[in-house]
Amino acid sequence: MTRRKPSRARLRPFRLDDAAGVCRIYANFFVDNSVQFGRGRMTVAIADGRLAGFVLWGPAFEPAWFDPGVKRWAELHELHVHPDYHGQGLGTRLVRSAVQQARDDGFGVMYVITEEVNAPARRVYEKNGFREHNRIVRYKIEL
Ligand SMILES: CC(C)(COP(=O)(O)OP(=O)(O)OC[C@H]1O[C@@H](n2cnc3c(N)ncnc32)[C@H](O)[C@@H]1OP(=O)(O)O)[C@@H](O)C(=O)NCCC(=O)NCCS
Repeated sequence: MTRRKPSRARLRPFRLDDAAGVCRIYANFFVDNSVQFGRGRMTVAIADGRLAGFVLWGPAFEPAWFDPGVKRWAELHELHVHPDYHGQGLGTRLVRSAVQQARDDGFGVMYVITEEVNAPARRVYEKNGFREHNRIVRYKIEL
């Protein structure tokens, strides 16, 4: 992918008046994340006077069944950058911000799940320190 010039976006915590900008990027965000949003922490990126991306992470409230011994952990729930701003390093800045917040809050580990074919997301996670932990298999039956 051709690298465009780095984004000069400003990162700050989510405010209620950001809701419309979030929905312009992900229409069903608040429906799909009704539980996670209430417990989580969201950071937005503002560029050219509009919302260009956001990240939502939060604490888990049960032990990590997929990682024995891990009792307190954080999960990165959502990461989205508006297509106009892809490839400018904004996804990276948002991920780093979420990781730093979780670290500052005393979490020793953060997990994120993504699709195997989502190359841009995987690149962003891997270049910012995430390493593949386990795979989830989706089964299907014709009814
Ligand atoms: C994933 C996403 C947030 C990345 O945002 P971004 O601002 O473009 O991220 P960055 O610019 O920091 O980095 C993107 C990286 O992916 C790479 N990339 C882009 N398309 C790629 C592809 N098809 N194959 C491999 N790498 C690719 C870029 O080259 C860049 O890596 P580099 O810095 O080494 O060059 C954005 O693509 C997005 O919003 N996608 C839709 C929502 C989504 O899938 N979210 C993740 C859910 S888990």
